[in-house]
Amino acid sequence: MKVLLVNGSPRSEGNTRKLLEQVRRSIENDGIETELLQVGGTAIRGCLGCYRCVELKNCQCSTKNDNFNAIFQKMLEADGIVLGSPTYFADITPELKALIDRAGFVSRVNGNLFRHKAGAAVISLRRGGGIHAFDSVNHLFQICGMFTVGSTYWNLGFGGKEGSEVENDREGMENMRDLGQSMAFLLRKLNSTS
Ligand SMILES: Cc1cc2nc3c(=O)[nH]c(=O)nc-3n(C[C@H](O)[C@H](O)[C@H](O)COP(=O)(O)O)c2cc1C
Repeated sequence: MKVLLVNGSPRSEGNTRKLLEQVRRSIENDGIETELLQVGGTAIRGCLGCYRCVELKNCQCSTKNDNFNAIFQKMLEADGIVLGSPTYFADITPELKALIDRAGFVSRVNGNLFRHKAGAAVISLRRGGGIHAFDSVNHLFQICGMFTVGSTYWNLGFGGKEGSEVENDREGMENMRDLGQSMAFLLRKLNSTS
């Protein structure tokens, strides 16, 4: 079993990363493999709306001049997917949105390839709009027939400056620890043979 965590923040060592690392530690403590990928700040492009993926149905996006297809392959191989983003004007970053649009489309037109995977959204914010960003990520999971993982609150962590500010949000950090445990719990149930 494996969980893929994606950091949608251009600040690769910022608050979102700290939240994702906390989720990751919990999952790994349960003996489940993880991988954390950086998407924020990369040159990932938005969907061009060319519908070539619908014609070809080859489990790929026809835009090949970025690393989308490599990331998509990792998403397909993962049992659980955690998508993290800072809140940007009450929504997610454009890089994570680009990944969601393209991954959602390619997975759906090839027979709903994300069906029955587990998904969790993780959002950092300074002050407001985090729930809207949280919802943006969950729209992907819901339309793809995935199981969403909850925790003690909605999966938000408060912090402004880059660095360890979000680690002072004790409730947020505890939420992430619990989220990792619940993700591991769900994956074990989904993979049990009984
Ligand atoms: C362009 C931009 C827009 C932002 N918009 C919001 C916002 O709508 N609400 C909010 O609470 N914080 C907002 N922030 C602050 C970030 O969400 C917050 O600092 C977050 O913890 C950054 O995470 P990171 O360190 O992983 O990048 C914004 C920051 C930037 C750069």
